[in-house]
Amino acid sequence: MFIAAALALTLLAAPQQTPAPHTMPGEEAVDPYTVDPSNAGARPFNGDAMARAFHGQDGIRRIVDRFVASNFADPRIGEIFTNQDRIRLKRTLFEQFCYILNAGCAYTGRDMKAAHKNMGVQQNDMNRLVENLQAAMGAEGVAFAAQNRLLAKLAPMRKVVVER
Ligand code: HEM
Repeated sequence: MFIAAALALTLLAAPQQTPAPHTMPGEEAVDPYTVDPSNAGARPFNGDAMARAFHGQDGIRRIVDRFVASNFADPRIGEIFTNQDRIRLKRTLFEQFCYILNAGCAYTGRDMKAAHKNMGVQQNDMNRLVENLQAAMGAEGVAFAAQNRLLAKLAPMRKVVVER
């Protein structure tokens, strides 16, 4: 009884490594930041047309999974992704796209400037990433007009992602 109580006290006194509530098992910790919808870098679409065009959250998840896998495997930009937290990237990208497409999610990731700081991303890396996203949206059967509407939301983020 005494031992059990002592053990319980020791466990309670141990520093708690509680991850933020939105993180997934297996994610690495990141420096603290303020969660804010504006971190997504774009305002969401109105209505549900874009969410439907992307086949809802299931479609967005398939697109993000394919997109992230292709970026990591890419002979041109894969090196930038090596050693980065793929589990977190999949979660935050899903949240970001789902939020912007107004498909029922909150974005809890970092802002685009902080997320890409000191990464040395160049314009041709950005172009390649967009090609990979187009391929992933195409594989999901998203209509070109809807693809282009999402790309137009992402395009202005180039200014903070690309370093010169
Ligand atoms: C408009 C274009 C882009 C968008 C919307 C975007 C979106 C994101 C998001 C949401 C995150 C995660 C934020 C977080 O962890 O809190 C992230 C991280 C990252 N992005 Fe991008 N990104 C873009 C362009 C690029 C480009 C062009 C590259 C390189 C070719 C890139 C490489 C990365 C890498 C490696 C990370 C992981 C950083 C880390 O874990 O510390 N991104 N991006």
